[in-house]
Amino acid sequence: MVKKMRGKDLRPIIWDDDKKELILIDQRKLPHKLEYFTCKTYEDVAFAIKDMVVRGAPAIGISAAYGMALAEIHGEDIEKAYNTLKNTRPTAVNLFWALNRVMDAYDKGRSILEEAKKIHEEDIETCRKIGEIGEKLIEDGDTILTHCNAGALACSAYGTALSVIRFAHYNNKKIQVIADETRPRLQGAKLTAFELSYEGIPVKVIPDNMAGYLMSKGMIDKIIVGADRILSDYHVFNKIGTYSLAILAKYHNIPFYVAAPYSTFDFESKVEDVIVEERGEKEVAYIDGVRIIPEGVGVYNYAFDCTPPELITAIITEKGIIYPNEKK
Ligand code: MRU
Repeated sequence: MVKKMRGKDLRPIIWDDDKKELILIDQRKLPHKLEYFTCKTYEDVAFAIKDMVVRGAPAIGISAAYGMALAEIHGEDIEKAYNTLKNTRPTAVNLFWALNRVMDAYDKGRSILEEAKKIHEEDIETCRKIGEIGEKLIEDGDTILTHCNAGALACSAYGTALSVIRFAHYNNKKIQVIADETRPRLQGAKLTAFELSYEGIPVKVIPDNMAGYLMSKGMIDKIIVGADRILSDYHVFNKIGTYSLAILAKYHNIPFYVAAPYSTFDFESKVEDVIVEERGEKEVAYIDGVRIIPEGVGVYNYAFDCTPPELITAIITEKGIIYPNEKK
């Protein structure tokens, strides 16, 4: 097990200004080892995003921006770097948002590196604000269910859904967290449980298929998740399993909150325009390198799903809380 550190100081993305390298916590190794993965080129960054060394919507956006900075520093073909990084993962809009932002700066003759640093710094502040605003929705004694990892590891620091949880904890609210293990990559079991236990926030992990039973027993007061893309009509794309949770929450009358920055909003696309990533068969078919399904049997491995606005109680952003079902 790795050494303890304050969760709010957990920084998954570090820019080394002397060496001009991007240093990422290798999230494939957590919770057993806290190791770093060094990116010296934009291709290294593209690999890190694809292979999920770094993951989570804001974190892949920030990393991609630094990837573009590496291409600029090494005098490489900027257009090629942009296309390579753009084609790493298709669903989280923060990736495209960050790439377009640094390209815009470049087109205007500004430094890509400076823009990447700005995106990174802004995200820390944004996540802090989401936590401060969202924690007001949390009551002393709440048990909160979360899915996947929308924490510091998925952003620059603090996280989105986990920032809300952190700030409730900082404000001395006695809360408990239930983390869905989040098959198949187990971000809840490996990353959320790691982050929260680091910080001394009580957390228990459950198999994903237990959530409904706990709700029926009155063991869950609130649900908070992050988002990979939010459309203008408030359809929310997030980790596979989010939609099922939202339906269960509606049935059991449990508030269902989404926490996300404005960089996760896509005001142009419609539901049918969004590409939901399908990942390789191995993630589902194997556990710890051992095949668990019969040879010759296929799998589905959609990485995200889409939750309609009528199932969402509120969306917590850095600019305030949106109630998608409020009459305009
Ligand atoms: O496949 P991942 O691990 O990148 O998916 C991450 C999620 O679905 C998170 O909930 C989302 O990116 C929000 S992170 C603040």
